[in-house]
Amino acid sequence: MAGYSNVAWFYDSLSRAIFGNALVEAQVHLLPLIQSNSNILIVGGGTGWILEEIAKIHPSGLSITYVEVADKMMGLSRKRNVANNKVTYITQPIQDVTDLPTFDVILTPFLFDNFSPATFDKVFNQLHSLLKPGGTWINTDFQLTGKWWQYVLLKTMFGFFRLMAGIASNKLPDIETEFVIRGYTLVDAKSFFGEFISTTAYKK
Ligand SMILES: C[S@@+](CC[C@H](N)C(=O)[O-])C[C@H]1O[C@@H](n2cnc3c(N)ncnc32)[C@H](O)[C@@H]1O
Repeated sequence: MAGYSNVAWFYDSLSRAIFGNALVEAQVHLLPLIQSNSNILIVGGGTGWILEEIAKIHPSGLSITYVEVADKMMGLSRKRNVANNKVTYITQPIQDVTDLPTFDVILTPFLFDNFSPATFDKVFNQLHSLLKPGGTWINTDFQLTGKWWQYVLLKTMFGFFRLMAGIASNKLPDIETEFVIRGYTLVDAKSFFGEFISTTAYKK
C-alpha cells in the first residue's frame, strides 16, 4: 500500500497551511533534551525535516536510526542535511524491523495516531523494549482537551488520511496511560495550537 507516499509531495505544505508552524515548534521544543553522542531512534519522521533540526543542535556525534515506512517520504528524508551525524535509513514498518540496538532517545512524532489499537499496542511495547533504562522518549501528537473544534479537526484529518494514506485509526490512543503503567517519569510537556498538540518527554 502506498500509504503516506501518496501525500509526501504536499504533506509539509498542507500541515503548515493548517497548523502554521505549530507542528514544527512542538517537535523541536524538546530536542534540547538530546545529549551529545546519543543513539537515537526516529519512527515516522515523514519528509525528514526533523533530521535537519537535530543537526542544528548536534552537528556531529549522533547515531540516528530513521525508520519510515513510506518510500516517497524516505526519498525526501534521505536528501536532508544531517551534517556529520550518522544516519541509518530503514524503509519498513517499525513493527517488522528486528535486530535493532537499544537507544538513548526515541522520537515518535505524530506516529501513534495512525495505528489500529492492536498495532498501537504492538509498536508501543516494541519501542518500550528498545529504549535503554534511563532513556528518554519524546512523543508528539494530537490530544483532545474538550474544545469542540479539536474534535471537528481531528475527525476531518482521520477522514482525509484514511482516504489518502489508508490509515487504520479513527481515535487517538491513550498514550499517557501506557507510559504511566510502565513506570515512566514525565520529564517535560508542552501544548501548542490551542492545546490540540502535545509534546511530552518521558524517562524510562
Ligand atoms: C502523520 S505523518 C507525520 C510525519 C512527521 N512526523 C511530521 O510530523 O511531519 C506519519 C508518518 O509515519 C509514517 N508511518 C506510519 N506508520 C508507520 C510504521 N508502522 N512504521 C514507520 N513509519 C510509519 C508515515 O509513513 C508518515 O510519514
